Amino acid sequence: MSVTTSIHDFLVQHRNKDAVSFHMPGHKGSHLYRRFGFEDFLSGIMDYDITEITGADNLFQTEGVIKSVQDRYAALYGCKKSYLLINGSSGGNIAAILASVGKGKQLIMARNCHKSVFNALALGEIRPVYIYPDTIKEFGISGAVSPAAVEQSIAENPDAEAVFITSPNYYGICSDIKSIAQIAHRSGKVLIVDEAHGAHLQFSDALPDSALQSGADLVINSTHKTLASLTQSAVLHCNSSLVDPYLLEDKLQCIQSTSPSYILMASLDINVKILEAHRNELMAEWIRNLDSFYRRITKIHGLKTMGQMKDLDWTKINFSLGELGISGAQLDHILMEEYNIFIELFTGDWVMAMSGIGNRFEDYDCLASALEEIVSKAAFYRGKEASDCSNVSSCCSSIGKEGIESKTSVLTPPKQAKMFEVPTQKKRVKLADCEGMICASSIIPYPPGIPLICPGERIEADAIAYIQAMRDLGEKVIGVNELGEVIVGNPPASANDMEG
Ligand SMILES: Cc1ncc(COP(=O)(O)O)c(C=O)c1O
Repeated sequence: MSVTTSIHDFLVQHRNKDAVSFHMPGHKGSHLYRRFGFEDFLSGIMDYDITEITGADNLFQTEGVIKSVQDRYAALYGCKKSYLLINGSSGGNIAAILASVGKGKQLIMARNCHKSVFNALALGEIRPVYIYPDTIKEFGISGAVSPAAVEQSIAENPDAEAVFITSPNYYGICSDIKSIAQIAHRSGKVLIVDEAHGAHLQFSDALPDSALQSGADLVINSTHKTLASLTQSAVLHCNSSLVDPYLLEDKLQCIQSTSPSYILMASLDINVKILEAHRNELMAEWIRNLDSFYRRITKIHGLKTMGQMKDLDWTKINFSLGELGISGAQLDHILMEEYNIFIELFTGDWVMAMSGIGNRFEDYDCLASALEEIVSKAAFYRGKEASDCSNVSSCCSSIGKEGIESKTSVLTPPKQAKMFEVPTQKKRVKLADCEGMICASSIIPYPPGIPLICPGERIEADAIAYIQAMRDLGEKVIGVNELGEVIVGNPPASANDMEG
């Protein structure tokens, strides 16, 4: 494909490829809107781009059409109130935290949260108390947050005002929200669940329970990630009397655009209409396609999959050809270049293909056939890896499999990372020279967009090695510029630890 400097041209080129999407968004193109009679939306996109004219309601004082869509979401999800979001779950996370935790107060939160949570901490001058999710050693990924860890943290930090958990996480691992909600509520704490990746859980008994079904107070859903609304649209649900709705609405106003896109909000409207009328049929199709896909790939010799294990949202398809000597980076590259299949992310040997409500049988068939063929040619790909001059493969071979594996082994940030005040005097320093300095701006490998080092944390040698390995692999690490520099401050002379 020729390189273009135009976003529009890029989109045209990408559409013309007719690629198979196993990445966000969940609608996977226009076909669901066509199937259920919303062609007018597709053809009317410019004419539907309006502002708050008479009759169009106002996102920040809903009384008309926006209110009725919000009410329909609340009824569909069975909660007290739902709010349309036009800055994604990022905006919902920030508003939920600012509405639940006062300035300077504490938030008990899992350390593997999304960047937006750390932004909320900075905006609200909120002090985090970290809980470290279990690591699933077999897969080298971050796992669930245990209720016992939440209980202990609340006991040690009785003044903390809320608990924040991400479930499912990027790989689909769900925490036991029911038990965590009971624990949080025993001490009157608000439980916020970032369910950005699980907006669909509510609608299938075959998948883990949703956070609302499990008793969370505030739940944030990126309907665009797995359901049928447009990218950047999302919904925040409130099902609690522990949260002041006026404060929540005030915070939503603070962080969202005053020119909300009616295109995004209309896509949320269409999403709820489709779900109201067809959720059972669509979920049954989705689950049926996944069941037959998993049955097929578990027969592929040498392919490992997390499969449909308990407490996993297995609409996220995690698999590995590591046993055959094919790394995640290489598999991503082969699927894209040779089979026109785009997956969501890879970590070490593992690849995650994110299915959505819009994937059709032929997409799963295409992915399964590609995997069968790649495995049958594994020896060829192993040989190719050493000599290939493509970006990804050459990077892989320069790091080597051991490097990639050691990279995943430090995926969960080290528990012993020390925290200090966020430096006020900041400077740019080469990452390689940063050991012992204090991070002043988050360092975030993308995906999955979870900060590896947060402002105020001391930068350790293993984190530096990890980031360098990721950059060598060609992965994006936000917070490290093209010169390999990060923003840091010196450690304080008197080591005033906030947390040991
Ligand atoms: C766990 C998690 N929470 C929140 C977000 C932010 O969601 P959005 O893209 O809708 O702003 C993401 C984005 O990928 C995420 O992975």
